[in-house]
Amino acid sequence: MRVLVTGATGFVGRNVVRRLLAEGVAVRALTRRPGGAGLPAGVEVVRGDLEDPASVAPALADVDALYLFPVERTAAEVVAMARDAGVRRIVDLSAASVTAGLHTNPVESHVARSGLQWTHLRPGGFMANMLQMWAPTVRAERVVRYPFADEPMLLVHEDDIAAVAVEALLREGHHGAAYTITGPAAVTVREQVRAIGAALGEEVRYEEVTREEARALMLAQGGFAAASADLMLGFVEYGGDAPESDSGYAEQDWSALSRPWPDVEKVTGHPARAFAEWARDHADDFR
Ligand SMILES: NC(=O)c1ccc[n+]([C@@H]2O[C@H](COP(=O)([O-])OP(=O)(O)OC[C@H]3O[C@@H](n4cnc5c(N)ncnc54)[C@H](OP(=O)(O)O)[C@@H]3O)[C@@H](O)[C@H]2O)c1
Repeated sequence: MRVLVTGATGFVGRNVVRRLLAEGVAVRALTRRPGGAGLPAGVEVVRGDLEDPASVAPALADVDALYLFPVERTAAEVVAMARDAGVRRIVDLSAASVTAGLHTNPVESHVARSGLQWTHLRPGGFMANMLQMWAPTVRAERVVRYPFADEPMLLVHEDDIAAVAVEALLREGHHGAAYTITGPAAVTVREQVRAIGAALGEEVRYEEVTREEARALMLAQGGFAAASADLMLGFVEYGGDAPESDSGYAEQDWSALSRPWPDVEKVTGHPARAFAEWARDHADDFR
């Protein structure tokens, strides 16, 4: 059994790789920069760019199952190449917003039409986003500045997504399933700050700022914070294209993004992990 992991250096992909190795499976990992991949010994690291399907072709030889990081523009071609190369199963990374009917996902559609065995992973917001949101000021000043202390966020541990992925890659019974993957409960920003402080064993302060101040801070921070500032702070409305009612996708239901889903426990036999546990796993990133 050999699995090709794309997005292998990402938050989810690294955990997929680690879990597959622990299962004794042969792992091939695709990355655009093999030199800086930092993947564990025992992984066959290959160069390839999902934006350039021809570069992925050699990596598909002798592969049984594929963990597919979503690159919309080339997904049709990559999925067809996988089928032609003899891959039997694809597990693709999608998003809970598809379950909520906020938009369609062409990657899911190509995978589902491939004729191969498939499973869609539909995670909600990643706890790892909060690393990018809070870690710079926690590291520098032991403070989080935000305008909504009591805003509940339903976030998921990246390794719970990986755990579901590995079950779907290796075991029977997951063909045709779309799993919505969330944490066990919503957690407010104040609770997140407390959990990070507890993980560090030091006080981390929460400082209320205005929406405008938060926007300026997030834009200056770059990365995820800058990209999400306007949506998270309510300066813009979500602007996705809702699917047509006859598209086979769900009707729009925003509550799907705020209620915990049972899929992690159903698939892995373990409850989804809470934010406090994630904060302990990432304590060093906040130090
Ligand atoms: N963040 C959220 O809250 C959220 C919620 C729902 C769904 N999602 C989905 O999850 C994805 C992020 O997953 P993640 O956090 O595991 O990934 P990540 O940490 O953002 O890393 C993605 C990895 O994919 C690789 N990659 C990116 N473009 C590539 C390309 N063209 N060809 C080959 N490899 C490429 C990169 O590896 P190399 O640089 O080594 O090539 C990178 O390390 C999002 O893009 C979204 O689709 C995210």
